[in-house]
Amino acid sequence: MSQNTQPHQQANNLWSSKLAFTLAAAGSAVGLGNIWKFPYITGENGGGAFVLIYLACIFLIGVPVLVAETMIGRKGGQSPVATMRTLTRSEGTSRGWQAIGWNGVIASFLVLSFYAVIGGWALVYIGKAALGLFTGADAEVIGGQFGNLLANPWELLLWHSVFMAIVVFIVSRGIRSGLEKAVNLLMPLLFLLLIAMVFYAMTSGSFGQAVSFMFSPDFSKLTTAGVLTALGHAAFTLSIGIGVLMAYGSYLPKSVNIAKTAMTIAVLDTGVALLAGLAIFPLVFANNLEPGAGPGLIFVTLPLAFGQMSGGALFGTVFFALLLVAAITSAISMLEPVVEWLEEHKGISRVKSAIGGGFAIWFIGIGTVLSFNIWGDVHPLGFISFLEGKTVFDLLDFLVSNLMMPLGGLAIALFAGWAMKREGLASDIGLKGGSFRAFMFVLRFVTPAGIGIVFLYNLV
Ligand code: TRP
Repeated sequence: MSQNTQPHQQANNLWSSKLAFTLAAAGSAVGLGNIWKFPYITGENGGGAFVLIYLACIFLIGVPVLVAETMIGRKGGQSPVATMRTLTRSEGTSRGWQAIGWNGVIASFLVLSFYAVIGGWALVYIGKAALGLFTGADAEVIGGQFGNLLANPWELLLWHSVFMAIVVFIVSRGIRSGLEKAVNLLMPLLFLLLIAMVFYAMTSGSFGQAVSFMFSPDFSKLTTAGVLTALGHAAFTLSIGIGVLMAYGSYLPKSVNIAKTAMTIAVLDTGVALLAGLAIFPLVFANNLEPGAGPGLIFVTLPLAFGQMSGGALFGTVFFALLLVAAITSAISMLEPVVEWLEEHKGISRVKSAIGGGFAIWFIGIGTVLSFNIWGDVHPLGFISFLEGKTVFDLLDFLVSNLMMPLGGLAIALFAGWAMKREGLASDIGLKGGSFRAFMFVLRFVTPAGIGIVFLYNLV
């Protein structure tokens, strides 16, 4: 293919190394999902058995889509929308597959609008921990702090804005001097902070109890809903389905082996989630707190533990800094497809695209800010039975996480598995012979079946 049809595939524009891409994609994968959601859903679903199922889902459902999406992105070499348009032509498929590109750009736009609001909570909690506001506080005080934050739209808006400004700044500087520099700095920092937290948990928490909670499977605690949660989370945590990896893949040098790199990314992502559990649960158990506390696990339960422990103010600050770093490296990946699309289709510069796109996303984010307070009782689609009682935030989360992500992931698996030409696919993916055939079998049958089941379950 000539360079004109793959504008991102130009030497001075590409990720400067395989490592840079790996860190960026791992940075996208490692996010609030790993540090916030994985520990609390593991807690709610009783530990060990859930973790085992989650691991199976990562490698059978997540990795194949991760590979396919990155491969499609590199082959098209443009924004997700143009990449899909180019590929439907060159592969001679139905034009309907172009919906994958649009779904990606729209879903990344929407997901960032609420992700940034929660990223703002991390900023607030770094301050709270550093100021020692948890020290000696009881459950009521700490619960009250979280409640007061959510009740205050101006405070939420302020930190949402700060978070978005950071994201826009990084993305506006481009792949090499923005995203790549940011992940080169932030990913090592993330690993360092995480290791410091695990070390703290080892020396001052109930580490043994946490290890047996997470790794000794008790299948009697596992429900069908738990299995489906594991599957849904496996897709979310790898950032698949909404064009983010397509956008990152468009800058990937041809020499990089996608199959191997995808495995590295999945292993890093899973490692971080497991280590986050090993950082959090020992503190929870040491203070006789509840591992199944739900979404409040890290904003209420964990601060309570920090408040009781020596060194809690310092390590509390470290923990929320870790959360912030993880959130930023994911958020920049959500802005990237939107910016690529604006650059390409509106012909405006990267800086203007980042600012304009970021502003629109920030504005939509106000709906999420208000969902926790003034609009707490506003349920825009409440007349539809399964959307009853959902706020604007709940609706956005449902739309993206339960509809657009799984449908996008399913469509990507089907497009790569069934619609694209087989010729050249093995080398594009970086597999040979038997391993390529095994991969294709999983991609064509196992992955779509898995995603399909979760999708239907989440609807009813
Ligand atoms: N994977 C991130 C997390 O675990 C979230 C995320 C970032 C994401 N980019 C995405 C999810 C793209 C789906 C698609 O927090």
